[in-house]
Amino acid sequence: MPTIVFLSSKGGSGKTTAALTLALGLARRAEPVAVIDADVNLPIHRWRGQASGPENLTVFPATTIPQMLHALEDARALAPWLIVDTEGSPRAWDQIGTLRPDLVIIPVGPSPLEAAEAIRTSRSLQDMAAFFDRPLPHACVFTRLPAAIRARSFTQVVQRLRAERIAIIATPLIEKEAFRAMFWNGGSLDTLDPAEVSGLASAQINADQYAADIIGLFSPGGPLAHASPAAVGWKQTVPPVQTAQAPASAPIGMTAAA
Ligand SMILES: Nc1ncnc2c1ncn2[C@@H]1O[C@H](COP(=O)(O)OP(=O)(O)O)[C@@H](O)[C@H]1O
Ligand SMILES: [Mg+2]
Repeated sequence: MPTIVFLSSKGGSGKTTAALTLALGLARRAEPVAVIDADVNLPIHRWRGQASGPENLTVFPATTIPQMLHALEDARALAPWLIVDTEGSPRAWDQIGTLRPDLVIIPVGPSPLEAAEAIRTSRSLQDMAAFFDRPLPHACVFTRLPAAIRARSFTQVVQRLRAERIAIIATPLIEKEAFRAMFWNGGSLDTLDPAEVSGLASAQINADQYAADIIGLFSPGGPLAHASPAAVGWKQTVPPVQTAQAPASAPIGMTAAA
């Protein structure tokens, strides 16, 4: 069962949004998905309480290690995919040790300061992997990427991560009102009203490509295929997104996981 943990030392980097977007991307492919909400503020648990949402997405609140162990057992019995949202505090490292994830995703904004934080997080993951004598594959994903970002500054941030041999998920999450609006009343990008949320269709396409990139890592021949889910029905039932408008930013390309 792929266990994918969202981690960063920085609050507000986009962990919760990126974790929920991936979980919803799996759910709309008819893949049962469990989410462990390990943030003391329980944002995804509260999101789930607001609206009916997809039936095949189950949220387990777990803010202590004993709760996490119970949630892990229940989640693994229920769904082939497990997504874990952590909080930006040192507690998250204990959670990583407990979860032994197949993939850690580090959300990072397109700034040198955030890149430096992501590099520190990657180094700590490498130290932890050496300590446990077990690989801890991890990748950055760009989030809150302004649609009109200057190519030059963005390229510099990408180069900094690449110089550290940090993998980057090909599709960044663009800064879009729709990604904030998911949390207004619960639900998903599919249940938001395009009359109320500007740029909804391009956010849907962006979210779908982002989820497909991560899911693809676990598919046969992918770098994380060894951890692929027992049921691989995800290729079959992708509901179409509403328009053919392309996302605002070019893909970056996934480099080898550490
Ligand atoms: N792609 C995005 N587009 C627009 N707003 C975003 C996006 N990703 C995150 N945000 C906003 O940025 C803030 C921090 O995001 P959040 O996912 O809560 O980060 P974290 O979980 O790392 O603290 C929130 O207000 C959220 O709505
Ligand atoms: Mg959060």
